[in-house]
Amino acid sequence: MEERVKTGIPGLDEILEGGLPKGTNVLISGGTGTGKTIFCSQFLYKGIEDYNQNGIFVTLEERAEDLRKEMLRFGWDFKKYENENKLAIIDGTSTKLRKRAVKEKYSLVGLDIDALIIEINRVCREINAERVVIDSIPSLGIKLENEKELRRSVYRLSTLLLEIGVTSFMTTETLGDGFSRYGIEEFVSRGVIKLDIIEKGDKFVRTIYIRKMRETRFSMERYPFDIEHDGIRIYTRGEVF
Ligand SMILES: Nc1ncnc2c1ncn2[C@@H]1O[C@H](COP(=O)(O)OP(=O)(O)OP(=O)(O)O)[C@@H](O)[C@H]1O
Ligand SMILES: [Mg+2]
Repeated sequence: MEERVKTGIPGLDEILEGGLPKGTNVLISGGTGTGKTIFCSQFLYKGIEDYNQNGIFVTLEERAEDLRKEMLRFGWDFKKYENENKLAIIDGTSTKLRKRAVKEKYSLVGLDIDALIIEINRVCREINAERVVIDSIPSLGIKLENEKELRRSVYRLSTLLLEIGVTSFMTTETLGDGFSRYGIEEFVSRGVIKLDIIEKGDKFVRTIYIRKMRETRFSMERYPFDIEHDGIRIYTRGEVF
């Protein structure tokens, strides 16, 4: 079989025939607070720590400094890997304030898709990245009115990631049913992973399932997962946490 990329998320690789197809592009879809950002961060951090694959985190929703602080709670020291040029955080949040994130080494001046593509490409070469995360697609602020333009932009972004050859995650938010904000992101990505918080009896549980993964025979079950002190763990064997 072709090369698989280990996700670094306990339980996930075993329901994906050992990992993700190398160089694929996966949409991480879920409502607010379902764990999308943590999921993607773990994929990048463990990629460096356990598999020696450098990574880029494009943060468009929360500032790089907030992301670092949150991830330190899981013992993931982003700063350390940034200093070692193994991890780059591209901060695109301050563009909404119409200024550059002056404290950051990598930041975006505008949220133009072309500029973003150029920057990802450049930083990929600079640190030799093999994993990329874009959090999130809706934060790119692509105009909803123009569906054709929107589809084209998201398509170009995901195709560039495939072209560079990195294994990538893009997040999107769902409102109610469906897999994405715009109803098109799932069609341009090669895989879709859905995170949910569902009601079970008198409490809520976090669940995960694979909706699509090209080149992969995956399990069709919905699995519970938990966010623990050291990150996300998926319970694939009927364990109750
Ligand atoms: N250290 C921690 N230990 C356990 N659970 C945590 C910890 N930190 C965050 N969480 C849980 O993770 C949730 C947020 O996860 P995350 O930020 O990844 O979600 P998200 O899907 O990206 O949400 P958003 O829509 O806000 O971007 C929090 O609501 C909280 O319940
Ligand atoms: Mg998030």
